[in-house]
Amino acid sequence: MLIRTGKNGPGHPLPSEITPRAVLEGRRDLMKLMATGVAGAAVASWAVRDARAQAAQVIRPGKLAALAGVRSNVPGAITMEKLTSYQDITTYNNFYEFGTEKSDPAENAHTLKTSPWSVSVEGLIKKPARYTLEDLVKLSAQEDRIYRHRCVEGWSMVIPWVGYSLGELIKKVEPLGGAKYVEFVTLDDPKTMPGVRSDVLDWPYVEGLRMDEAMHPLALLTFGLYGEVLPNQDGAPVRMVVPWKYGFKSGKSLVKIRFTDTQPVTSWNKAAPHEYGFYSNVNPNVDHPRWSQATERRIGEGGLFAKRRKTLMFNGYEPEVGQLYAGMDLRKYF
Ligand code: MTE
Repeated sequence: MLIRTGKNGPGHPLPSEITPRAVLEGRRDLMKLMATGVAGAAVASWAVRDARAQAAQVIRPGKLAALAGVRSNVPGAITMEKLTSYQDITTYNNFYEFGTEKSDPAENAHTLKTSPWSVSVEGLIKKPARYTLEDLVKLSAQEDRIYRHRCVEGWSMVIPWVGYSLGELIKKVEPLGGAKYVEFVTLDDPKTMPGVRSDVLDWPYVEGLRMDEAMHPLALLTFGLYGEVLPNQDGAPVRMVVPWKYGFKSGKSLVKIRFTDTQPVTSWNKAAPHEYGFYSNVNPNVDHPRWSQATERRIGEGGLFAKRRKTLMFNGYEPEVGQLYAGMDLRKYF
């Protein structure tokens, strides 16, 4: 069984064991930079930020009792790849509601109040309802999955997410014929989220999927990772994980799931339409206007000097999801 119920199961060193090693590795990177003389301002500040994220103290939130961990039968869900460490997954994050640095969410997201929590499911469906988190967790047969996670800035992780296919919820609420898209709206609370006082994005953070994408079994409504409830910085208490798309398609701390007949206006598409399209499928052949998307850096693999690996089409899930985009020009629909 993959779901671990202990706080520090096999492969889970105590935070006290991890931190000094991580700090050390961060320092080693910096020293190598100095030695090779490539410590340009931009690279050095990147390395310092990375080291800061690594050094953050991780507080583990405890076991995920509700999802007991029945193994998933969804093709493509299980991976043989080496998992990214819990420390890296929880200290190197994007969650702009808590700041724009990778280390900010781990430092600041402790203010997020995740209980009580509810998610409103509404729009073009027969059975609109507000689900408490507890009801949402119990809604489906229990499953566990492992997924790759690839961010648009060129870093990737392998994360044992825990949840169930969003399609399970979608079937329960009975979409009407006109429902063509699903919009995901996340929490916007200036009292607990210091980042939403800035205008870096138009809050709340909104994402969306086409209905067939949302129904794909790999689109996961996610409540935990490594068998434990999601830490706040990873999108507690419930988030989306869409593993064949760039990370920003996976909204964190969801409060509303809305079914629509028009394509949702998503946060990043609104902020920079030429850089971030609605589809955002991981695609090594279509570059971001400011950088190549052909390779990626696996977090935890040797820091700055790790060999970059080739990015796979649809993040490696082409056999599972390729047919969703048959006949589409993926340069136009990026
Ligand atoms: N969801 C919200 N609400 N706010 C955000 O800033 N960032 C996105 C996505 N979901 C973001 C969000 C981006 S850019 C990425 S890469 C992933 O979350 C990062 O998820 P992780 O920190 O768990 O790796």
